[in-house]
Amino acid sequence: MTDTEIPRPTDGDVVDRILEDHRLFEDLLRQCRRTDVDRAAARTALAEVLVAHAVAEEEKVYPELRRSRAISGHEEEHSEEEHAEINEALLAFLQAKGTDTQKYEDTLEELATAVNHHAGEEETTILNPAREEVGEERRAELGAVWLSRRNQLLDEGCASEEQVQALLDEAEAEGVLAPEGAREEADAIKEEAKKTAEEIEEKAKKESAG
Ligand SMILES: [Fe+2]
Ligand SMILES: [Fe+2]
Repeated sequence: MTDTEIPRPTDGDVVDRILEDHRLFEDLLRQCRRTDVDRAAARTALAEVLVAHAVAEEEKVYPELRRSRAISGHEEEHSEEEHAEINEALLAFLQAKGTDTQKYEDTLEELATAVNHHAGEEETTILNPAREEVGEERRAELGAVWLSRRNQLLDEGCASEEQVQALLDEAEAEGVLAPEGAREEADAIKEEAKKTAEEIEEKAKKESAG
């Protein structure tokens, strides 16, 4: 799979086309896990389509859904925060040297978690209201506008390490994402809490097994 194989439809219902990309994310995540494919090419394709998809959503879809009151400003901001969290995980994945290391596997699974979480939430809190509250004709217009921006970003190339870092810097400057130091501190606390929780469960399992 190379980036030239990312489909570039130019029209369609915006909700349907976004859902197609969400399925494409899952496919590309699976490609990245396989050992019998060109993982580097799959990683590049995944990065490009993740960034193009999300930037075009933020620029063309969310503002329009907010204006038509299908979604609230809070939902828009929350989704943008999740995009930033995906970009953070994506940058770590892109920075993993080689494609056969533990670091590659670990950062891939963290990215998969962030992407799957966001896709599920977006489908529930954004795409459902869009389907219910925006007319068919408008959804088709919005589909063409979103795809045009998405495809333009794909053609230009939008997900080098430098480009993803720039998106993260922007998110931080706009207060969408906490500063890096605070994020690292929060991650360390979560990691510690997870370990403690696992220990409690392990101990309880041993005790109940007698
Ligand atoms: Fe999406
Ligand atoms: Fe999104």
